[in-house]
Amino acid sequence: MPFNTVLTRKLGIRVPVVQGGMQWVGYAEMAAAVSNAGGLGIITALTQPSPEDLRKEIRKCKTMTKYPFGVNLTLLPAMVPPDYGAYAQVVLDEGIRIVETAGNSPGPIIKQLKQANPPCVILHKCTTIRHALSAVKLGVDFLSIDGFECAGHVGETDITNLILLSRARQTMPVPFIASGGFADGQGLAAALSLGAEGINMGTRFMCTVEAPIHNSIKQAIVDADETDTELVLRRWKNTSRLFKNKVTEQATKIERESTTGKFEEVAPYVSGKRGREVFINGDKDFGVWTAGQVIGLIHDIPTCEELISRIETEAIQTLSKASSLIVDKQPEPDIAGKPMGDMSANPSSDHNKKVPGEAQIYDIGKSKL
Ligand SMILES: Cc1cc2nc3c(=O)[nH]c(=O)nc-3n(C[C@H](O)[C@H](O)[C@H](O)COP(=O)(O)O)c2cc1C
Repeated sequence: MPFNTVLTRKLGIRVPVVQGGMQWVGYAEMAAAVSNAGGLGIITALTQPSPEDLRKEIRKCKTMTKYPFGVNLTLLPAMVPPDYGAYAQVVLDEGIRIVETAGNSPGPIIKQLKQANPPCVILHKCTTIRHALSAVKLGVDFLSIDGFECAGHVGETDITNLILLSRARQTMPVPFIASGGFADGQGLAAALSLGAEGINMGTRFMCTVEAPIHNSIKQAIVDADETDTELVLRRWKNTSRLFKNKVTEQATKIERESTTGKFEEVAPYVSGKRGREVFINGDKDFGVWTAGQVIGLIHDIPTCEELISRIETEAIQTLSKASSLIVDKQPEPDIAGKPMGDMSANPSSDHNKKVPGEAQIYDIGKSKL
């Protein structure tokens, strides 16, 4: 059953679920599988070494799906930054009109994407309301509100989605989607209830059959629980939520104990190259790799089709269950004719059973009052 939200209408998708950009995961196979399943798949531009390689990846994806897909452009500070303008131009030349932007100073790229004819639909990802409002001024169509639970760059304000999404609903003049901590239809239903037009997921999609990473890493996610992530690079205000492993333990130790505070000391431990190797060789301790707290909710490795259908069914059931809680007339109280607080009305109530010792403690407590 299709959903009808601003997101599904604007992007032409059936289920309001977006697969967020993922470095070394967001290749054509991943994006096409998500789009074929009814969500929005996204190719991550910087998984490609050059704009021309991105062109090939987009063309490959077009052969794998007839449904809409997007491209993620992540703007990160670097000594020698990639030619973002050239990557964006390839996106436009290839007729892609859905772009997820993330990172610092997105103004020039957003301008370039918006000047195209027709202009791109832009989903801008951010972790604070302040940054979201700046992006609105730049003309983005959707905000992707990334709570502190999320994988990767969590920002420095530590606000989780229960607050952040409601702040977005209260403040944001444009539609938004909820990102970080989502894995199932109950989460989608909750996000819609909080005012979002859909959800964005990263970690959950890593753990699907089509995700182009080693099976041992998918299994490590299944085996992990919600406490198995670690915040790294906090000291340098570039906090990243990563899968907790031997390397994050070493990195955080240096971060805590370094007397110089020089980034060079920790740099070899947080190398992106080693992180990429993890996904290829399947050794979860070979380097650092990104994952969100949602790993605690992931217990299997479905296909994208199975996952998105399941999310769809669960969300529909959750929303109907929630609406069935609203009735025409106030029902009779469970304890007929008596206010709920009056436990003496129900002689079988546990509160009236004399438990030796425990009851005496209550009695002593009462007499002291
Ligand atoms: C392995 C991995 C790599 C990621 N790389 C990027 C990236 O390059 N650019 C980006 O904007 N977000 C990146 N993200 C963040 C996701 O797009 C998304 O915002 C995040 O995963 C949402 O949180 P969740 O994992 O709880 O669903 C990455 C996430 C993962 C799991």
